[in-house]
Amino acid sequence: MQLIDGKAVSAQMKKEIAEEVDRIREAGGKIPHLAAVLVGHDGGSETYVANKVKTCEEVGFQSTLIRYEEDVTEEELLACVDRLNKDPEIDGFIVQLPLPKHISDQKIIEAVDYRKDVDGFHPINVGRMSIGLPCFVSATPAGILELLKRYEIETKGKHCVVLGRSNIVGKPMASLMMQKAYPGDCTVTVCHSRSANLKEMCLEADIIIVALGVPEFLKADMVKEGAVVIDVGTTRMPSSVTKSGYKLTGDVKFDEVSAKCSYITPVPGGVGPMTIISLMRNTLLAGKKEIYP
Ligand code: GUN
Repeated sequence: MQLIDGKAVSAQMKKEIAEEVDRIREAGGKIPHLAAVLVGHDGGSETYVANKVKTCEEVGFQSTLIRYEEDVTEEELLACVDRLNKDPEIDGFIVQLPLPKHISDQKIIEAVDYRKDVDGFHPINVGRMSIGLPCFVSATPAGILELLKRYEIETKGKHCVVLGRSNIVGKPMASLMMQKAYPGDCTVTVCHSRSANLKEMCLEADIIIVALGVPEFLKADMVKEGAVVIDVGTTRMPSSVTKSGYKLTGDVKFDEVSAKCSYITPVPGGVGPMTIISLMRNTLLAGKKEIYP
């Protein structure tokens, strides 16, 4: 069994991006600038956004954090998106989700200029991805592809089972793994909470990507010997041992499943660190106008 070290790969990518920013600076080019919009004070969102801003600094990007209180109106938030769309200084921006209940996530996502949509959530980016055109690919699926690539994991002709059908992970992941490309060229099955034969499907899989948000869902008796297992789960479980008071728990029962795998991502330190660095790469692409010249 080989552990897929997302922490090491993301550190290497961070170095590569920082070097590219240095080259841009030396050539007198524009330094990529990411803006993040954070509404309210949800603990998870606060942490994610703080890490995004911190990583921007580490790679040499400019960053702007825009905060609103929980009671911001949808109109105010749409006006903010409009300003960011029009601001030539901002290359890309994200609105951290989920938003308060009185604001439609989808309405906000669709208001973002797709050319600045470094989250890859806008229907134009999702549509372009599904037909294999250049686009911003959302961070978690992009990070997983990068791990498969850097570990040179064979995907052609393999059966890939994706557990979960979210717009952010499951659906784009399935779409990318069936793409005529590397990584890709898989036969893909998507299973979800209503699937009747999920265990049988998993037992057929050469590659299993688990994105259900159900701690330790995937057990050893669901996995074929030699399978590649990618764990996207990051549930915060209360813990009396850690300083933060919680422990990140994946969707895979790691101790028993890892014994059967050829490759597996740990939690933490697998897919998680790849997500932010993929957002940084999208921001670099946005800054260089590589996808939408
Ligand atoms: N909430 C959870 N993940 C994400 C993400 O990748 N982007 C945004 N904007 N919000 C999120």
